[in-house]
Amino acid sequence: MGSDYANDLPLNQQFVYLSLSRSIFNMGLFTKKPIDKLMLDSSDGEKGMKRSLGAGNLIALGIGAIIGAGLFVRTAAAAANNAGPSVAIAFIVAGIGCAFAGLCYAEFASMIPIAGSAYTYSYATMGELVAWIIGWDLVLEYAVGAATVGIAWSEYLNKLLNIFNVHIPYQWCHSPFEVCDDKLGLFANQVGVHGIMNIPALFIIFMLTLLLIRGTKESAFVNGIIVISKVAIVIIFIVLGWGYMNPANHTPFIPPASTYVDSQGVGHNFGGIWGILGAAGVVFFAFIGFDAVSTAAQEAKNPKKDMPIGILGSLVICTVLYILFAYVLTGVGSVTDFRTAGKEGSVVFAIQKYMSGYNWLANLVTVAILFGFSSVILVMLMGQSRVFYSMSRDGLVPKMFSDLHPKYSTPYKSNWIFLVLVGGFAAFVPGDIVGDMTSIGTLFAFILVCAGVWILRKTNPDIKREFKVPMVPLIPILGIVVCGAMIAGLGWTNWLRLGGWLIIGLVIYFAYSKKHSKLK
Ligand code: ALA
Repeated sequence: MGSDYANDLPLNQQFVYLSLSRSIFNMGLFTKKPIDKLMLDSSDGEKGMKRSLGAGNLIALGIGAIIGAGLFVRTAAAAANNAGPSVAIAFIVAGIGCAFAGLCYAEFASMIPIAGSAYTYSYATMGELVAWIIGWDLVLEYAVGAATVGIAWSEYLNKLLNIFNVHIPYQWCHSPFEVCDDKLGLFANQVGVHGIMNIPALFIIFMLTLLLIRGTKESAFVNGIIVISKVAIVIIFIVLGWGYMNPANHTPFIPPASTYVDSQGVGHNFGGIWGILGAAGVVFFAFIGFDAVSTAAQEAKNPKKDMPIGILGSLVICTVLYILFAYVLTGVGSVTDFRTAGKEGSVVFAIQKYMSGYNWLANLVTVAILFGFSSVILVMLMGQSRVFYSMSRDGLVPKMFSDLHPKYSTPYKSNWIFLVLVGGFAAFVPGDIVGDMTSIGTLFAFILVCAGVWILRKTNPDIKREFKVPMVPLIPILGIVVCGAMIAGLGWTNWLRLGGWLIIGLVIYFAYSKKHSKLK
């Protein structure tokens, strides 16, 4: 009956009526934030954060967060352990999985252009508890992800300084839980030394936090320069490396199925279809970040049009570069190289071994990796503060997370708080503990966003969508299935960690957030 009445109203009042009536009848854990209230928050945002980002900035933001360790480190690892040259196909598989989720993000971001990304979308579609869970889960993707990449940054800084014969003492670039075994070949005289604090990781997070506080436009500018540099180096490697490919390395392109046991004694499905799928799970990390574009919706000049361009544009550009990069890398170096001498430094190793005269390119790749990591950290830190900005405006986390700087209009208090958390993590915790946590947290968010698009098409079919996912519900369902399969592939230890993290989140929700929720 309510819907009949609503049908007689003008369209904009229809969804105000429907959303409000729905929330009145549903004032529990599953209270949904009415879409009209979200829209109001969005226009309110005009008075808060500055709208300074155009479509180009948004694409660059996406590429800034996407190209990093996943491409430069994990490509060779996936070729070595799982797929050989067919890692290029694995990039296509992972890219298709991300495209399903990317399309769903694009529809939401063009419809609800507000900071907060998956958190905000869940609040409108699945209610407060699910929104809280996803907001809490996104800490894994953004804050923990930034710390993890900060630790990798520190490792590569050592590699770069090594070229100039400068060495940071082991104890000042590792956490107290690590003991030197000289795995990287950089600390020959310090075997057995205990780490104290990872100062370079803390340093890069501190510098990027300062930049973020200074302003979104300034951060986007620096990000743009970094993106141009790292994309240029990826293209140079593809173009120059093309001539050094050895057809023998690509034969057979898909190795026959077998089991490969790595140097740690861990067995992997190598070759065949399972090898490709395993490699897709490994290189998925390389795609993480395109969704971070959607956290900046409130700072976009024309979010309804530019958000889909930013999200899908960055995803398409990176997927093409990834496939070509993987094809050339596995053509230049052999699987044996990646398994033995090359390891984490396989790209540099392959250039030095097979592309004589291009030592400068090997050094540039190391610089590109450092640049790449910096922009990944920058956009992740930005995404984190924007998600908590939205949660704070909804009362689910304290108000200080949405206080804006009087001059720069950035959520500076939030940036400082996350500097302490992320910096502390990067300085004192080993990187490998939570690398996969970033992936599982992201995949979980992707699943909820795919489900959300489908739900909102049913509950609020008339809202104007600047961008629409084709073939709903097929595409969201495929997104859920592919991301679910990748979560399954991450194994039970990661499921337990995700479960533990969510339980901590639930305790906080019932102890604080539920009582302070503004919607109630
Ligand atoms: N996609 C990002 C990277 O590869 C997280 O570093």
